[in-house]
Amino acid sequence: MNNRFLDACWGKPVDRTPVWLMRQAGRYLPEYMRVRSKCTFLELCKSPELAAEVSIQPVEILKVDAAILFSDILTPVEPMGMKLDFVPGPLFEHPIRTMADVEALRIPQMEQDVPYVLETIKILRRELDGKVPLIGFGGAPFTLACYMVEGKGSKDWATMKRMMYTAPEVFHALMEKVTMMDMEYLNAQIKAGAQAIQIFDTWGGVLSPADYVRYVLPYTTKLINGLNRQETPVIHFVKGAGSMLDIVKRAGGDVMGLDWHVELGKARDILGTDMAVQGNLDPTVLFASHKIIEREVQRVLDENGDRPGHIFNLGHGILPTVPPENAIHMVECVHRLSQK
Ligand code: CP3
Repeated sequence: MNNRFLDACWGKPVDRTPVWLMRQAGRYLPEYMRVRSKCTFLELCKSPELAAEVSIQPVEILKVDAAILFSDILTPVEPMGMKLDFVPGPLFEHPIRTMADVEALRIPQMEQDVPYVLETIKILRRELDGKVPLIGFGGAPFTLACYMVEGKGSKDWATMKRMMYTAPEVFHALMEKVTMMDMEYLNAQIKAGAQAIQIFDTWGGVLSPADYVRYVLPYTTKLINGLNRQETPVIHFVKGAGSMLDIVKRAGGDVMGLDWHVELGKARDILGTDMAVQGNLDPTVLFASHKIIEREVQRVLDENGDRPGHIFNLGHGILPTVPPENAIHMVECVHRLSQK
């Protein structure tokens, strides 16, 4: 079993830097498109055999050191009572706007309401046995609530932020409910066999540090505290958190996910030796020549220096137009250049 990824999450020394890519299962891979051409994205998420197949594709094609469950952060929100579509971005027919909307949300029974997610994890653990660990994941309460309130993606999340400032009781009731759902969802993933958990807070960085402390930190902290994670490291990725890493650390994760707006070495100085980091190559570097990709991989490795507890990754998800051979090259560079 290749345990480099889990060892690095716990800050233990490893023979070479483990690497995986956020959104590594997806549209840049022709192998994914072949499976995806037969069904919708949601149908794929709800078909355990197919979801497991596309999770394993990047392990075999890119030779990454971890697999990630194939699903979406919004999968468990649908059974809360919100009809969901992907067009291709997420779309909720009836966004949350009032206290009555929040009160109508239910907390799903995970075994009954998202059995396909737990089944996919079980299949993956069997098929990955002896190969690489499996990462489960969920959205942070704030990022999930952003989509639930806006109904879709947004440039400025103004509807969400207006609710935060003008109807705080609705905002806090929603965050409370989403946090409880998330806790049960991620614990169900751990119980089913997920060996690490990544929490994606893609939009946490749209708030000022002061607002992050007031509106987001209490909920993510409560979520992480409520996870059965004695043996399951938690990776906390807040995009745009470069200027508030000390604050985000207080949420309690084991690994800090870093985007590319922060120097990895400086981030490590701020975070200290008791927290591992994951990141942080600019995803668009994968459009560059092999020579430049190698140079940038070396730069990120150099910023880390010889500190244990680094998992190489992109600073955000891989883009659908990236040539797969460049992603393969990136992984190969990380392994070759970091070999002890
Ligand atoms: O990392 C992996 O390979 C696992 C699968 C995964 C998906 N979404 C599959 C997906 C993961 C970890 C996610 C997380 C996710 N989903 C996030 C957080 C990470 C991030 O990128 O910030 C967010 C914000 C979402 C919500 C979401 N889902 C959006 C905004 C979109 C559309 C954007 C786009 O890429 O077009 C999706 C759809 C989605 N999720 C696809 C995939 C493979 C594309 C669907 C398709 O095949 O048509």
